[in-house]
Amino acid sequence: MAVGCALLLAAALLSASAQLLRREASFTISLRTVDNITVMIKLRPGVSQGCQIRVKSLPRSDLKIKPGENVTFTFTCKTPEEYFIMEIQKNIDCVSGPCPFGDVHLYPPGLPRLNRTFIWDVKASTKAGLELKFATPWLRQIEPGGTCPDFIRYNINSCIDTATVNIGTFCRGGSVSRVKLQGGVIMALHLPWNSSPTTSGFNIANRSSIKRLCIIESTLKEESSVTLMSPNYPHGFPEDELMTWQFVVPSNMRASVFFHNYSLSNCERKEERVEYYIPGSVSNPEVFKLSDRQPANIAGSFNLSLQGCDQDAQNPGILRLLFQVIVQHPQIDENVTHLVDLSREWDMTVTIHSEGWPNWSPFMSEPICLICKDLRTCDHALTLVSGAIYKISFLCKDLAHLRITAEKNISCVDFWRCQRKIYALSVPKAITQLPIRLHKFIWKLLAPELINVEIMSPTLKLQQHVPEQRCNTSYSYSIISATPERDLNVGIFCPGGSIEKIQMRNNVTISLKTFGKGFFNESNHQDLKMSFVQHIKDECTFTVSPGPKARLYLQTPNWPYGLPPYVSISWYITVPSKQVARLGFSKDRMGIACETGRAYVNIQEQKLGAEETVRREDELLPEPLDMYHSFWVNISNCKPVDKMHLTLPFWVTFAEKKIDLAVIIAVVSGAGLLVAIGLTVYCVRKKKKKSQNPMVGVYNTNVNTEMPGKQGLFKKGRKNNESHVYAVIDDAMVYGHLLKESNGSVAPEVDVYRPFDGPIGSLPPSPPPLSFRKDIKLSSSVEEPPLLTETDHDAYTFAHQKTGESENNGDANEKNNGDASISLLENKEQDGLEE
Ligand SMILES: *[C@@H]1O[C@H](CO)[C@@H](O)[C@H](O)[C@H]1NC(C)=O
Ligand SMILES: *[C@@H]1O[C@H](CO)[C@@H](O)[C@H](O)[C@H]1NC(C)=O
Ligand SMILES: *[C@@H]1O[C@H](CO)[C@@H](O)[C@H](O)[C@H]1NC(C)=O
Ligand SMILES: *[C@@H]1O[C@H](CO)[C@@H](O)[C@H](O)[C@H]1NC(C)=O
Ligand SMILES: *[C@@H]1O[C@H](CO)[C@@H](O)[C@H](O)[C@H]1NC(C)=O
Ligand SMILES: *[C@@H]1O[C@H](CO)[C@@H](O)[C@H](O)[C@H]1NC(C)=O
Ligand SMILES: *[C@@H]1O[C@H](CO)[C@@H](O)[C@H](O)[C@H]1NC(C)=O
Ligand SMILES: *[C@@H]1O[C@H](CO)[C@@H](O)[C@H](O)[C@H]1NC(C)=O
Ligand SMILES: *[C@@H]1O[C@H](CO)[C@@H](O)[C@H](O)[C@H]1NC(C)=O
Ligand SMILES: *[C@@H]1O[C@H](CO)[C@@H](O)[C@H](O)[C@H]1NC(C)=O
Ligand SMILES: *[C@@H]1O[C@H](CO)[C@@H](O)[C@H](O)[C@H]1NC(C)=O
Ligand SMILES: *[C@@H]1O[C@H](CO)[C@@H](O)[C@H](O)[C@H]1NC(C)=O
Repeated sequence: MAVGCALLLAAALLSASAQLLRREASFTISLRTVDNITVMIKLRPGVSQGCQIRVKSLPRSDLKIKPGENVTFTFTCKTPEEYFIMEIQKNIDCVSGPCPFGDVHLYPPGLPRLNRTFIWDVKASTKAGLELKFATPWLRQIEPGGTCPDFIRYNINSCIDTATVNIGTFCRGGSVSRVKLQGGVIMALHLPWNSSPTTSGFNIANRSSIKRLCIIESTLKEESSVTLMSPNYPHGFPEDELMTWQFVVPSNMRASVFFHNYSLSNCERKEERVEYYIPGSVSNPEVFKLSDRQPANIAGSFNLSLQGCDQDAQNPGILRLLFQVIVQHPQIDENVTHLVDLSREWDMTVTIHSEGWPNWSPFMSEPICLICKDLRTCDHALTLVSGAIYKISFLCKDLAHLRITAEKNISCVDFWRCQRKIYALSVPKAITQLPIRLHKFIWKLLAPELINVEIMSPTLKLQQHVPEQRCNTSYSYSIISATPERDLNVGIFCPGGSIEKIQMRNNVTISLKTFGKGFFNESNHQDLKMSFVQHIKDECTFTVSPGPKARLYLQTPNWPYGLPPYVSISWYITVPSKQVARLGFSKDRMGIACETGRAYVNIQEQKLGAEETVRREDELLPEPLDMYHSFWVNISNCKPVDKMHLTLPFWVTFAEKKIDLAVIIAVVSGAGLLVAIGLTVYCVRKKKKKSQNPMVGVYNTNVNTEMPGKQGLFKKGRKNNESHVYAVIDDAMVYGHLLKESNGSVAPEVDVYRPFDGPIGSLPPSPPPLSFRKDIKLSSSVEEPPLLTETDHDAYTFAHQKTGESENNGDANEKNNGDASISLLENKEQDGLEE
């Protein structure tokens, strides 16, 4: 405790003495008469009086020390820099006596550390030229009122008679190396209190008359750019004045001028203009209007003059100019032109641009490449249009900074004209041969309402970019199907997969994006084509034809944001002969709850009488399934409750078919008996459970087009198979409910079915769920042996046992066979039978 007190006391004493010391710190400023320097210390405007200056123990709030005076003073606070500012003004009179030319010093020394402004007020004959020459790193012009990173700022004003013109405000570090003025100049250097440069950074020299307001010299030694403003910017350039910017550029470099901001005054006499002296030009000076495209690709040094006019006294207007000069190497130090032949292309634009374009501002100092379409016309971006041949060149040392973005429209107005055409979606040679990276090639496939788009990759085939199987090729396609209401991001695809075809409704945008340099090589065998097809039922249908041993991962479109509401997608996956596919879902549920409608997954082999596996969003997704024939995976979405998204990844693997004779025999012989037993068991169970929740999934696609009650294609098959009875009863209840909806008022669920009211394909309609999978297999194809032990087990123990199980779980897990079109009447009949 005692020790603590002692320490505290010691600390207090120390700080008191420190304060004492600081307060005692005194400054002596003695100014020689010959220097003609006046020092002013004053309170910063608007600051409260918390500190004073003490001279000979008299407190005061400002202090002016004139030439020849010798003043000693102190501050009454320890942080005078927060209250006071200082002006050190030196008058230099070159009219009445010789000028003190040479380096300009920061004089006097020993000044207190305050924000300070050194002002050099040079009076000179209006006929004499004055040159301010800056030490490296030279200066960079900023807009008046702007700040510099180090808070060190120069301000140059020219005095003609009594008027003052602000030549410009500058920071350190730039390309402005000299400023020449006519007559007087007021040069100000603002320094923050905590910086202590030793020199002013410039010297003054006398020059013969420059016959204009000023000359600003900018020295550009390497690839760089400089932004400059006319005097007084953004206010008006003095009336009828002339000024010049001189650009010193190495002769092997090329300069280009861009006017970013200008306005013109109302001229009564003469015309406002800019004049260029361009080395080698036969028409010097080259005269331009400010509104003209300014010259580019100028080899070496040049100068640019701005000439004002006699303004209308009533309404003078404002002449001002903000412009940029960009200096670059020409490509490989000489003239290289590239021929781009787009004469045989249609509806295509090709834009060559710098990496950052168009998010680019004139104040960025990094060099930006230019593209020239003739000797003097260069720009940051050049757009070439199909139907012409161009000769272009680049002002750019490293072409890696350039990119190509191209766009091509393919549209179908009259289906009968475009229906059999196959359009290649490949990047033309004219583009791939340029030494510039293709950033994006966008195909816009436009079709009227009922015409849809099919894209094909017959040889390379496409792979969907999913986390389990990422694209690693040098290019990829992003496919977006756009309706007026929304965009459906079908996905990102790259060559070298299993997707052979994608059919899409709506207008489709395909963007090829390249990665790395490999596209130069791979562009030789591009393999994407498209054609216009008649209306399709789903939003999107994928035809997947994998090679043997493939392992593929697929994902619902718009991943990871989720399939839009009511959208249905289908995949047709071909199973190579002698192979068996295994289909599995990467999740065990769809992971959504529906606000309106229902979401379904329907899986069915493409063969007569194939059973259908149906899952609703509130059910568990099936365990991995073995598929012996090509099959459909169809997913249709409901309107999920807020913040839920349907994304459903799944995979397919392939294996050689094994033929096990023993199993076939056992299955065939056992089948009849088992069916009989099975049915009995099933009937009893089903009857008991009937009043409970009938968990029947219906793939949205066909419910609407094939209303219950319509005569279906598979009626016969159903009659032959008694096993359908029980499931159909449940289905009838579901269908009846739907029937009511479609007859009566339009319930929101109707939306679900709307996408499917197109022409009905030749394929059998989607069946209602049934549960006798193995039976069907046995009856329709005996040469197809069960492959895996679990399924073998199923064959003997009956599918409906599974149903029983799932009923016990409260989870319907039914598998169904192919019969959708059962009349209500028939259903009733069956109902009766069951009773
Ligand atoms: C000092 O400045 C004043 C006012 O500009 C001028 O009259 C005088 O000649 C200058 N003296 C010297 C020595 O430059
Ligand atoms: C200014 O005054 C101090 C003392 O007050 C003196 O030491 C110094 O020599 C004087 N300097 C000049 C230039 O008169
Ligand atoms: C001194 O200059 C700095 C930087 O420009 C500024 O933030 C500060 O407010 C100035 N102080 C005074 C007292 O003017
Ligand atoms: C610059 O000033 C010096 C001396 O003051 C004079 O001799 C010289 O002629 C001047 N130069 C120009 C270009 O006016
Ligand atoms: C160009 O002028 C407009 C209008 O005065 C101004 O808003 C804009 O910031 C200026 N652009 C540049 C780059 O100074
Ligand atoms: C502009 O450049 C030309 C040719 O290099 C030169 O003759 C002329 O004096 C220059 N003018 C100015 C004001 O720099
Ligand atoms: C570049 O081309 C221009 C015009 O064709 C020509 O005047 C110039 O000499 C050429 N330069 C070189 C280095 O070939
Ligand atoms: C493509 O079509 C759109 C809309 O019709 C049009 O705005 C665009 O300019 C066209 N692009 C090309 C390259 O023809
Ligand atoms: C790209 O991925 C495939 C598998 O998806 C792999 O076989 C191939 O080696 C990869 N290539 C490169 C260059 O990484
Ligand atoms: C596709 O684009 C064409 C032309 O812009 C338009 O007329 C048509 O309605 C669009 N189709 C769809 C489905 O948005
Ligand atoms: C392009 O192919 C050539 C020859 O096949 C090869 O030498 C070159 O490295 C390839 N370039 C790239 C960027 O893959
Ligand atoms: C899946 O969708 C396709 C295309 O719409 C359709 O032909 C097929 O019958 C559907 N299959 C199932 C099981 O719903």
